[in-house]
Amino acid sequence: MRPKITVIGAGYVGSTIAHFLASRELGDIVLLDIAEGIPQGKALDLYEASPVEGFDLKIKGTNSYANTANSDIVVITAGMPRKPGMSRDELVAINTKIVKDVSENIKKYSPKAIVIVVTNPLDAMVYAVWKVTGFVPNKVIGMAGVLDSARMRSFIAEELGVSVEDVTAFVMGGHGDTMIPVTRYANVGGIPLEDLLPKEKIDAIVARTQNGGAEIVNLLKTGSAYFAPAASVVAMVEAILKDKKRVMPVAAYLKGEYGVKGLFIGVPAVLGANGVERVLEVKLNDGERAAFAKTVESVKQLVRATGL
Ligand code: APR
Repeated sequence: MRPKITVIGAGYVGSTIAHFLASRELGDIVLLDIAEGIPQGKALDLYEASPVEGFDLKIKGTNSYANTANSDIVVITAGMPRKPGMSRDELVAINTKIVKDVSENIKKYSPKAIVIVVTNPLDAMVYAVWKVTGFVPNKVIGMAGVLDSARMRSFIAEELGVSVEDVTAFVMGGHGDTMIPVTRYANVGGIPLEDLLPKEKIDAIVARTQNGGAEIVNLLKTGSAYFAPAASVVAMVEAILKDKKRVMPVAAYLKGEYGVKGLFIGVPAVLGANGVERVLEVKLNDGERAAFAKTVESVKQLVRATGL
């Protein structure tokens, strides 16, 4: 039997996730949204692409959680984007409400699912999902690090004129201004990045990575990124469904690793059939430790704003 993957929120990110999932034939897809007709229309349109693209899957669009029952993986993209003039805390309040409703339904209909959270502000929303579902923490995972790292990797590849495939780099911490692109561990075909680029160039890549989401928002003006976020989610889904034990930076629940307890934050982790199977603790130098302490503080503030 094919795995069942539900995507909640059929907006830009949700529908692009469905597209990538389908083209990789990772499982049957349910696309759910509160907007009537939208998930149904997008699912039907995607299904009609299947004879041309050659993927054999069931793709269902729905407004009813009954159709999501017994999903193996649920991806949450439902939420409101930040509007001009809206404070971060206001956005937290609105999206916490949405994510709470979604989480209660996941708990009811797919109690065994692994949940991947995409809704922003990410670090607070993944915490909210964990609180409301009461799922074991390794089965609730936030998608941010794969995306932020992909941005960093693409900027490095572009700067050096090399294949993106050969660039390894990861970003730790919260999915916001305080994220930490860990340049010391970045490498190109095994060669340390710091041996290949001068400090000013590396600093520019770090700054562009930290500003990566805003760069897209400023260009699009009417929304935020969706291709790279969707591709990042699908890589995580694949790692889980194929039990690949991939090492990916994700927002994972910390039980004392990095000196943090009871918080979801971006760290390198092993992703397999059980979700986050292990958090990998890399050695941080003094500067990185200070940056990590700062990002933990900012995530704590966001979590507090959820009131959970
Ligand atoms: N239940 C289900 N769907 C909902 C709910 C809800 N309670 N509330 C809103 N939605 C749906 C909307 O109807 C909309 O179709 O969520 C969808 C969000 O889609 P977009 O507005 O296109 O937003 P998108 O660009 O996909 O981003 C979604 O991902 O990257 C993050 O910051 C981004 O939090 C945002 C999320």
